[in-house]
Amino acid sequence: MAFPPSFVDELVARNPIEDVVGQYVTLRRSGANLFGLCPFHGEKTASFSVKPEKGIYYCFGCHKGGGVINFQMEIEGLSYPDAVRALAKRAGMAVPEDEQYQSRYQKQERLWALMKEAGRFFNERLYAPEGEECRAYIARRGLTKAIVTQFGIGYAPNSWNALVDAMRKKGYTDEELQEADLVGEKNGRIYDRFRNRLMFPIIDVRGNVVGFGGRVLDDSKPKYLNSNETLIFNKRKNLFGLNFAKKTKENAIILVEGNIDVVTLHQYGFDNAVASLGTSLTEEQVTLLARYTEEVILTYDGDAAGQQAAKRAIPMLEKAGIKVKVLQVKDAKDPDEYLHKFGADRFRLLLEDSSNRVEYQLNAIAKKYDLREDDQKVQFLQESADLIATLSSAVRREVYGGRVAEKAKITPEAMKLEIDRARKRWLDKEKKKQEQIDLAPARNLQPKSRTIRYDNLKSARAEEGVIALALKEPALLDRTEKLPESAFSCPLLGRAYAMLKQRHSQGLEVSLAVLEDFSQEEMSHLVGVSQNQQFPVNEQAFDDCVAIILAEHQAATVTSEDDLLAFRANLKKRKGIKE
Ligand code: GTP
Ligand code: MN
Repeated sequence: MAFPPSFVDELVARNPIEDVVGQYVTLRRSGANLFGLCPFHGEKTASFSVKPEKGIYYCFGCHKGGGVINFQMEIEGLSYPDAVRALAKRAGMAVPEDEQYQSRYQKQERLWALMKEAGRFFNERLYAPEGEECRAYIARRGLTKAIVTQFGIGYAPNSWNALVDAMRKKGYTDEELQEADLVGEKNGRIYDRFRNRLMFPIIDVRGNVVGFGGRVLDDSKPKYLNSNETLIFNKRKNLFGLNFAKKTKENAIILVEGNIDVVTLHQYGFDNAVASLGTSLTEEQVTLLARYTEEVILTYDGDAAGQQAAKRAIPMLEKAGIKVKVLQVKDAKDPDEYLHKFGADRFRLLLEDSSNRVEYQLNAIAKKYDLREDDQKVQFLQESADLIATLSSAVRREVYGGRVAEKAKITPEAMKLEIDRARKRWLDKEKKKQEQIDLAPARNLQPKSRTIRYDNLKSARAEEGVIALALKEPALLDRTEKLPESAFSCPLLGRAYAMLKQRHSQGLEVSLAVLEDFSQEEMSHLVGVSQNQQFPVNEQAFDDCVAIILAEHQAATVTSEDDLLAFRANLKKRKGIKE
């Protein structure tokens, strides 16, 4: 559905891009632009830029870009109209639209309200007579009333309809209860999905209750019943406890496995603990973590599954520029048990001791081999050398090399030789990888996006030039009388050109930020194009681009030999005039 252009223009003007982006990303000014860590991909150096005066953002790393509406869509996963509605709300503007139309955004708001009510209901039931067994369980797990209140923990009564009845009374429809995944359905009747369980609300970083994790009060199975995906809940994109941990003063975030571990850690003063939601760590969660911290302390359970999960998580986190430490819980199965057994001070010592991932991985390698056997010792040394070889710091290579040598009872010099050899191999391999990337210039000229391809690279370059220059200097669009949209070899660039030209002729803002009808990928591409500095902003450069487009277009449409001759003559003539 389309909104009136004047409304969209005002909406964009009243939602300055730097303010909206600033809600999610810490931005630092550098000249006319602002820079920060890209919220769309994990990174350690800021390649995400915001240009307030153009109203656009662009990431030089992942090449996402657009105006404020695109940003809202991308970061909250909203459709175009819902992003417009959200921004209108932010700016206190009324949205011109059909009142009957139940939008996804309005639906989301209903579901958020419903989940909050449900959380309140579970919490109240905990203190009702029926909550006695659950209160006893909470006491047995050593959780205080204060922490129960802080996390909004509650009790789902042992009933098929307690929640359904309560929510119906509050005016929620059966359909909404189903959409929130709070109920099951049988023979056309809905019933409470969570029964006789300890309820943990899952709260997103903006403070909305988006789901629940419900634990049984005994050893029955399944131990946890979790909300499935809904309109407002995506497990892959949330972390339990992050709503609190994001405010921590600590530098690092502690990543654990269980909900109860998170709650107990917070109770003992470790307000930087989070857990993934019963799934193994996802790329989206890593990106989310990278938004809030530069260091993660992995604290997975000591069992084989926990160790396997840690091994998988380490490279994912490091790829996002996050420094990884690994904490080994000793003499307890998880942090929760450890804290109750040994207290916060002892856990703090563990935290301080938590080794960086190299130490951790070296230990893991050592565990695989019996160092009393010569051939196993050799394998241990080689595998360790391969790992140490990847470290960029020579000092660190030497320190870890020395430790490994000591363990295997060989000289540090011999170890150093082994590491140097491994490093050479590793550098060669990395270089080859890089060459493969560099050796593909033709491919590099192609758009980064997977779905946009240039059929005619020469023309496309010029088409990019026309758009980049028109955005920098809209008056140049007065010089395009002879350039029809159809001359563009890339339909996307042609479409953008036509829209900008039309806006220019109507005296409207010529900017990407206000354009509608482009997919996120297309918009990212267009913003990338607008970043092009290759063309000097002047009439000559612009006219040259126009001439190339027309010539290429004509060449492509020439069909007979006569046409070709006429075309060549024409081209010569035009060149002659220009020179
Ligand atoms: P305790 O064992 O009581 O200490 O609970 P915990 O919260 O520490 O959970 P645990 O370490 O056993 O499991 C880690 C996480 O995996 C839990 O918090 C849940 O999110 C998830 N999980 C555990 N069991 C199940 C299950 O049966 N089904 C599902 N879907 N998720 C589970
Ligand atoms: Mn546990």
